[in-house]
Amino acid sequence: MTADHAFAASNEARLAAIAGSGAVANSMTSAPDQYGVIGHPIAHSWSPFIHGLFARQTEQAMVYKRFDVPPAKFRRHVVHFFLHGGRGLNVTLPHKVAAAELANELTPRAERAGAVNTLMMQGENEIIGDNTDGEGLARDLQDNCGVAVSGMRILILGAGGAARGVLAPLLALLPSEIVIANRTAARASSLAREFAPLGNLIGCGFDSQLLSHFDLIINATSASTQGETPPITAALLHEGTVCYDMAYGREKTPFVRWAESNGCKRALQGWGMLVEQAAESFSIWRGIRPETAPVLQALIAS
Ligand code: ATR
Repeated sequence: MTADHAFAASNEARLAAIAGSGAVANSMTSAPDQYGVIGHPIAHSWSPFIHGLFARQTEQAMVYKRFDVPPAKFRRHVVHFFLHGGRGLNVTLPHKVAAAELANELTPRAERAGAVNTLMMQGENEIIGDNTDGEGLARDLQDNCGVAVSGMRILILGAGGAARGVLAPLLALLPSEIVIANRTAARASSLAREFAPLGNLIGCGFDSQLLSHFDLIINATSASTQGETPPITAALLHEGTVCYDMAYGREKTPFVRWAESNGCKRALQGWGMLVEQAAESFSIWRGIRPETAPVLQALIAS
């Protein structure tokens, strides 16, 4: 056990032991409630901007900071934050799985995703882990982009954490079928088997005969971080196919460029998902749902 782990373990024991003592509640005097996003790196994060606009719009007295914390210090930082009155954290790469391991309790959707992007206190001694990413994608598709998922044949590219986190919310929208295609085909098959009780889905590699004619294609690979797109062909598309990249950037992402150059008329990137998952976290923390449209507009214009 490292010094960090020892510290975190003793603080977690303390956190578990302070039920009823009011220690956490007492440290939250009249100062604004403390929130933040924890990741490594984190300088690029738009979450403080988004939550700042939500707070102003809904008149909530809160501050929201960035915490750049490497994996070895993650547990210690989170426990310290909550012990000192912190109310909620968003969790981003590379800590989403560690956050699920740290939480005292997971919501069913975080449990299914095996990853946490939202932490909060329950009472005074329990850290709850939730995952709002899938809900963010579903809301962006349906509410912002007007993509009616019910009955659609969907292709998900990638079988890592990002794909896992959106499968259940997408299946809840009743597509006719979801095909998961991944560079490592076995990973796609195993993910499909795991979620098979929730709907009609199948896993395969990028060379599969199944890969043609989808209504909606969602890129959940991390290929764009290497400036790449998965090895896919125009056979995936038909006249009305919508392509959605969970990644986003100031420039068009490689997947959006691929889609447009292969004739896709509707290629979207994940700015809306980013804002919607944040709104879901915000409403869990504050009990009030902010309007997302003006925030999405401000983000794109910034
Ligand atoms: P995340 O949590 O972002 O999903 P991950 O669990 O490491 O991260 O998964 C990354 C996904 O992107 C995987 O599906 C990975 O494919 P493999 O399972 O075969 O590794 C996929 N991926 C990463 N780089 C890729 C590339 N250049 N081309 C195609 N797929 C890629």
